[in-house]
Formats: sequence, structure tokens, C-alpha cells
Amino acid sequence: MNKEVDNPAGSIPRHVAIIMDGNGRWAAQNGRPRLAGHRAGVKSARQIVEACAEAQVEILTLFAFSSENWQRPAEEVNALMRLFIEVLQREVATLHDNGIRLRFIGARENLPTILQKRIEDAENKTAANTRMTLMLAVAFGGRWDITQATRQIANKVSTGELDVEDIDEAMVSRHLSLATFDDPDLLIRTGGEKRVSNFLLWNLAYSEIHFSDTLWPAFDSTDLATAFEFFSQRQRRFGQLDNQKEASAD
Ligand code: FPP
Repeated sequence: MNKEVDNPAGSIPRHVAIIMDGNGRWAAQNGRPRLAGHRAGVKSARQIVEACAEAQVEILTLFAFSSENWQRPAEEVNALMRLFIEVLQREVATLHDNGIRLRFIGARENLPTILQKRIEDAENKTAANTRMTLMLAVAFGGRWDITQATRQIANKVSTGELDVEDIDEAMVSRHLSLATFDDPDLLIRTGGEKRVSNFLLWNLAYSEIHFSDTLWPAFDSTDLATAFEFFSQRQRRFGQLDNQKEASAD
């Protein structure tokens, strides 16, 4: 079916990014330990991955662990690392069978060695899949990303590979973690807070932002449909006027 004709407003975002917030509060509301909230969060993630693939989303980026999350109590950090290792062990084959390519962004050198290995194996195994890319942001922060890009560019200038005059927005973009992937069209944040919390700072410049009060473990395909409905009603102008956008879309 022709997507343009079927859906002229472009109601399905091509790249969806999600700040999955509210696992801890969900656990507290249900009288359970925080880890139970994170486990329930994994179930939600699985459901949303399926729903996005069915809706023909091309890239789904999930913020699983931020640079700031290292400051949580060691017990919770360790439990989350164990959970990530377990989830990769359990889910990669299913993701692969469903044509999903897994990619990771973040300071992976700070992760436990075994998790780094699982990440590398998952990326290699699923590298040729084309149905949807599932991008997991782990040990990721927007400021970290801009800093590491700056460092790479500065190194290239110091070795003479680049001239200062070569540095423009496209060059900075290429050195960020999303590199050649398009920027998110839609950012969803669950759990009621209205912040970007050091997620993809550069890449969210023109994203539509949908805040949902639903706590992440309770977020389901109906909530996702609400977010897509919000997106379909937005008019994206990228800083231009309406008539300019129409002209440049021709
Ligand atoms: C957000 O809730 C939870 C996290 C950032 C931790 C990790 C996320 C998951 C386990 C879900 C999906 C995992 C994968 C691997 C896709 P919070 O702890 O900040 O909740 P609170 O704000 O209610 O305390």
C-alpha cells in the first residue's frame, strides 16, 4: 500500500524516541520493590517494540539507562545491569527472528564487560535486519554525546585530518551517536514529568514531544496510539513558514 496516499499527514513517525519513566513509582504503587517495576518495564518495552514494528516505525530509540543513573544506589545499578544482561540473553533471538536490528548508543566502555560482549554479539547477529532498528541508549547522556563528538573532531583537527573550516552542523551530526540515522520525529516521555533529562539534546531540536502521565510499566499500545494521534495532528515546519515548508516538500 502506498504510505503517502494512505496517510497523507504522515501520521506514523519514522523515528520514535522514548524516555521510559515511572518504573519506581509503579512499583511503589503496587507495594513491590523497585526491581519489580523495572521487570514490568521490560514487559512494556517488549509490547511497544512489537507495536512500533507493526506500525512500520523505522527506528525506535529507548532511553534505558542515563549517564545520571550511575548515581543511583549501587544495589539498583547492579540489579539493572544484571537485568539488561538477562534481557539480551532472552530476547535477542526473538528480535532477530522478527527482522529487528539492535544498536546501542552510550558510553559502553563503562558497562560490565559481560554486558559489553552481549551488546556486541547482539549488534553483530542482527546487523543485516531491515524491518526496524531498535536503538537502546545505555549509559547515555546528550551532553556526553556532544562531548565525545567534540573530542573526535578535535583529534582529527590535531592530526591534520580535518581543518577547522570543515566543521559545520552536518559534520558535528556525523560524530554524534545517531550519526547517519535521522533525528527522532516524535519524543514520548512517560511518567508525568515534562523534561528532556539530558536525552538526545542535539537530535531532538525539531522533534514533536508528547508527555504521557502513564507510568512506563502501564504504558501500552493504546497509549502509543494516543501519542501517534498527537503526532498526526502536529504540523512540522522546522522553523519555516507554512508556505515555505510546502514549497520545500514539493
Ligand atoms: C525508569 O523508571 C527506569 C529506568 C530508566 C531503568 C531501566 C528501564 C527499564 C528496565 C525498562 C526497559 C528496559 C529495556 C532493556 C528496554 P524510574 O526508575 O526512573 O522510575 P521513577 O521515576 O518512578 O523512580
